[in-house]
Amino acid sequence: MLRAARMKNESFDPKTCKLGEFACEIRFGFIYVCLHETPPDIDAELEGLENLIGDYEPDNYRIVHTATEVWNTNWKCLVENFMEGYHLSVVHPLTLHGYTPTGLSKKAASGKGFTSYHANYPQETLSRGKGSDKLTDEARNRSTLFSIFPCQVTSIASSLLVALMIRPLSAETIEVRWTMSAYGDELDEETINQRITLWEEVNREDREKLEIMQASFRSVHAIGGTLAGPDYEGTVHDFLLWLGRKDT
Ligand SMILES: [Fe+2]
Repeated sequence: MLRAARMKNESFDPKTCKLGEFACEIRFGFIYVCLHETPPDIDAELEGLENLIGDYEPDNYRIVHTATEVWNTNWKCLVENFMEGYHLSVVHPLTLHGYTPTGLSKKAASGKGFTSYHANYPQETLSRGKGSDKLTDEARNRSTLFSIFPCQVTSIASSLLVALMIRPLSAETIEVRWTMSAYGDELDEETINQRITLWEEVNREDREKLEIMQASFRSVHAIGGTLAGPDYEGTVHDFLLWLGRKDT
């Protein structure tokens, strides 16, 4: 601040009159802000993630679509929903089952502050893009879904990246800002528009189920259940362990 009109009293010091300062880091093309006065070591939290997604070259994706929506669900429910492969074939029978059926889901790397799984494509699926030269054919034949706790869930594939940033508004309401990014200039406009339409439908399907579930949680008869196996809900197990950590 250079000056403040009419603030001539001696007790006013422009050096101490400023906006709040918060820890800010950039990793993999994303900006991370921590509001806590002693932020965690982000590289320790994300140790192992570079091995998982580095070959996609996430910095080389460019945003092609952004939308902000308000969903009536608790934030943790969306993290769990996005991060398990168990629901893919049932909740998304016409949109995702053909690309990423539940039966091909495989748990992938976990770290102190993240979890992940691979949503593999059936062998007969046509290539969905080349992407980075570093990618193997195996990597091109799947989407890698990862969550950086607490509020980011992401799907990255050879030519497309979709990220949802979650901002809790209340115990039962969240703001979801989701972005779609394309690798370089590989995808034409028509293909990008088809992918946007697909993801709008996928998000609608998830949102519908989450909002019904949130209403049911109000019942005194709502009870917890056991998790499916590691390839289907091992990521949810990771998230629950993270939530239970005393230093988070
Ligand atoms: Fe889903």
